[in-house]
Amino acid sequence: TQAVHDKTLKVLLAGPRGFCAGVDRAIRVVEEAIRRYGAPVYVRHEIVHNRTVVEELEAQGAIFVEELDEVPPDGHVVFSAHGVPKTVPAEAERRNLLYLDATCPLVSKVHREAERHFAGGGPESRHILMIGHAGHPEVVGTMGQLPVGAVTLINDAEEARTVKPADPSRLAFITQTTLSVDDTAEIVDILRERFPLIEGPKREDICYATTNRQEAVKAIAPECDLVIVIGSPNSSNSQRLREVAERSGARRALLVPRLNELDWSVLEGVKTLGITAGASAPEALVQEMVAELAKRYTLCIDERTVKEENVIFRLPAPLG
Ligand code: F3S
Repeated sequence: TQAVHDKTLKVLLAGPRGFCAGVDRAIRVVEEAIRRYGAPVYVRHEIVHNRTVVEELEAQGAIFVEELDEVPPDGHVVFSAHGVPKTVPAEAERRNLLYLDATCPLVSKVHREAERHFAGGGPESRHILMIGHAGHPEVVGTMGQLPVGAVTLINDAEEARTVKPADPSRLAFITQTTLSVDDTAEIVDILRERFPLIEGPKREDICYATTNRQEAVKAIAPECDLVIVIGSPNSSNSQRLREVAERSGARRALLVPRLNELDWSVLEGVKTLGITAGASAPEALVQEMVAELAKRYTLCIDERTVKEENVIFRLPAPLG
């Protein structure tokens, strides 16, 4: 048969990519809650930062709200994977709402670390420096485990160099789970150098999924004219993947939420295209993009997996 395409495109698929165990669990929590309690089930904030996931759950009977006051008195409500400040379950209890907590267990682990360092505010208490991005729901949730003033946010290396804690001998640090591994290592080094007595995790609190996805994109980036990261602009780990791709040698890296938002002109002159997906982006979006590419190019697909993952989290108690 005659070749349909005269253009060939090499596609490097980074592995692992896409859904992590925390996102998978959060989606199952909502689905299972709808199955058990019937629609609608309310979800506070985007359950994970992905429009496609949100729309699919809406179609099943989820209603997304910003705050609890939008949930009717007898409603069931799910808290998102990013975690929530302590005031949120307290408020749900006060209003007698039935709530399910889809906070990723790896985020909850950081919450407990923070509480351990704070030690009830007693004589053993340490002031906490949290490395993370201001305004991200995970940061709001983690800082909200402790009273106002117990945690100082460190956004970048510059802030690590200039922060002036009241007692440098009683400090601890924690981090957001979805940061750049390399940037965070630099910030931790600065803190350890300035405050030798600071306590913290051996490296940081970045989760296995963030670490593996960054490693996978690093492995393909140097060969790529373009790396497409499928993910939403409000997804922290997707944004970091885009930066890591560019810094690791991809000529260009773009965040594309989904196929219909891809401007095809970016593929002009591209011979090798890398594709990865953030931890909240469904694999179906990757496959859809590959299928669309196959209509326009003769594809040579190379799947490059740097690490196998087999993490699965159980559902929270009432559903498990
Ligand atoms: Fe959890 Fe990491 Fe995913 S913290 S939600 S496993 S990106």
